[in-house]
Amino acid sequence: MSLEGRHLIDPVDFTLDELDEVFSLSERIIKKPESYIDICQGKILGTLFYEPSTRTRLSFESAMLRMGGRVLGFSDATHSSVAKGESIADTIRVLSSYADIVVMRHPKEGAPRLASQYSGITIINGGDGGHQHPTQTLTDLLTIREFKGTIGGNNVAFCGDLKFGRTVHSLIKTLSRYPNNKFILISPDELKLPEYLKNILNKSGNVEIYETNDLESVIDEIDILYMTRIQKERFFNEADYVRLKDSYILSKSKLSNSKNSMIVMHPLPRVNEISYDLDEDERAVYFKQAKFGIYARMALMALQLGVI
Ligand code: CP
Repeated sequence: MSLEGRHLIDPVDFTLDELDEVFSLSERIIKKPESYIDICQGKILGTLFYEPSTRTRLSFESAMLRMGGRVLGFSDATHSSVAKGESIADTIRVLSSYADIVVMRHPKEGAPRLASQYSGITIINGGDGGHQHPTQTLTDLLTIREFKGTIGGNNVAFCGDLKFGRTVHSLIKTLSRYPNNKFILISPDELKLPEYLKNILNKSGNVEIYETNDLESVIDEIDILYMTRIQKERFFNEADYVRLKDSYILSKSKLSNSKNSMIVMHPLPRVNEISYDLDEDERAVYFKQAKFGIYARMALMALQLGVI
């Protein structure tokens, strides 16, 4: 089935073959970007960001501009008619005649899904509350393919805020559809992966799960270490955040027992969980990961717009 006109709200909206199509095109774009500079001429991307963003919004904008299209939207909903009480349904109905495709980030879980039900154009979820972040998952999987050659068969450790981190929720759910991955879940007790997600992983029959709160005790087993920020904006009280915010601080010395082939990923922004001394280490791939986000989003929009 073609991806033309298809919304991307949750990574399970696409089959593994469809995800593969996005990655294959991303890799073709990486190799020869000059072949794609005008494929979106005449197309307009709408960016509706009801929550702050650097990478997601700007990589989408960069992706559309690199394909010859244009961009409109808002990065602060208080400067839009949302501040006057306009509903998501009305906003998206109007945007449907202003743009060809929309990426929406919203603090409320399910908001992009709701938008898709009223939209005349394709909707992409740019992150909804603590729920899903499917284009970060495309970025992460493309990064894994580039560095590991395959998406299955790895020991993948997730470290930090596994309760509220939507990048973790999206990625782990998607990785569980690929064969032979082992998940090592590293978090304080209060920030463990939600039970509903563990049930999905267990039902997949594809994965092994091990939980711990001690990163150093498992560091030698890890192929991919996915670090995450403690999600301050999702906490109900400041005292809990302050108590937990520095639970894990990864520095170069803490990797002394890791495999040489291990990679350290992070969706960014980082706050304090990775020391700057790790940035130049070849295992640290998080800035390259952010760059892959442009290519994954170029490929995604090109396929959804049916221009390729
Ligand atoms: N990774 C990510 O979603 O970053 P932003 O919040 O800056 O978009």
